[in-house]
Amino acid sequence: MSDTEFFKIYGPWAIIAGGSEGVGSAFADRLAKQGFKLLLIARKPGPLEETAVEIRRKYATEVRTLALDLTAPDAAVRILAAVAGCETGLLIYNAGADSSFKYFLDRPLDESERMVMLNVMTPMRLVRHLAVAMGERRRGGFILCSSLAGLAGTPGNGIYSAAKAFIDTFAEMAWFELGQRGIDVLCALFPLVRTPAMERLGLKFDGEIKGADPGDIADEVLASIKKGPVLHAGGSTERGMRLRGMPRDKAVRTMVGVTDSVQE
Ligand SMILES: NC(=O)c1ccc[n+]([C@@H]2O[C@H](COP(=O)([O-])OP(=O)(O)OC[C@H]3O[C@@H](n4cnc5c(N)ncnc54)[C@H](OP(=O)(O)O)[C@@H]3O)[C@@H](O)[C@H]2O)c1
Repeated sequence: MSDTEFFKIYGPWAIIAGGSEGVGSAFADRLAKQGFKLLLIARKPGPLEETAVEIRRKYATEVRTLALDLTAPDAAVRILAAVAGCETGLLIYNAGADSSFKYFLDRPLDESERMVMLNVMTPMRLVRHLAVAMGERRRGGFILCSSLAGLAGTPGNGIYSAAKAFIDTFAEMAWFELGQRGIDVLCALFPLVRTPAMERLGLKFDGEIKGADPGDIADEVLASIKKGPVLHAGGSTERGMRLRGMPRDKAVRTMVGVTDSVQE
């Protein structure tokens, strides 16, 4: 699909939840280049504003920012208010990583509840609201970012993996139901990506651990928007299919290996 066609279907406004860095800012860059107007959301106002300034400078398009915690109960309401009156044709829900590895019982319950807000409640509410107007226009799209961790219960990231599993099946349903209204839905499962969030977790992307490039992932995901419901991005199809097909005890043990290697 050409950039012009993409903009016609999904423009003029796009919301990027988690748009200040990593894959989120790469999405913002690609969309602004095509002429999209953007609402970028993240918690830290500094990096958020820096990204917005850079994109306005490069592409002279309108970029709004909303410094907001997506785990807040009123997050969806505030986001919708920030784009009131704008024709929003695309939501990319990118935010969602876990900021630590801890067993379920070692975390305060409210931390786990916030993970559910971040990866379940807020994206589900946004899709529910935004899809109505998109359906009336019979065009639009949702890209929901997920993880291979959603394919098996992941010790140390338990609620994260469970919440991503919700997003995976929610997106499959939405792909079918909203597809009947002319709306495209893609759940993009990422492998390890070299993002600032992963670096803050302590990952060193040198030598053995490479991680995918955020710009490459953003390009692949945008090019795959019509290939829903699921994309195993960054060459992770084989791993994803292997995990899906494993006996569940083996799949969980495989995930233990993954989180251990990340913590080392
Ligand atoms: N990086 C990987 O290796 C990897 C692997 C598999 C899946 N994924 C998925 O890819 C997506 C992006 O991951 P990432 O590594 O870039 O980390 P991330 O922590 O999800 O950060 C991405 C963006 O989201 C914002 N954000 C995070 N939590 C937020 C919150 N509670 N409220 C508002 N904004 C929030 C961040 O800015 P602020 O910090 O300023 O809020 C940043 O702009 C996530 O959905 C993650 O689950 C990543």
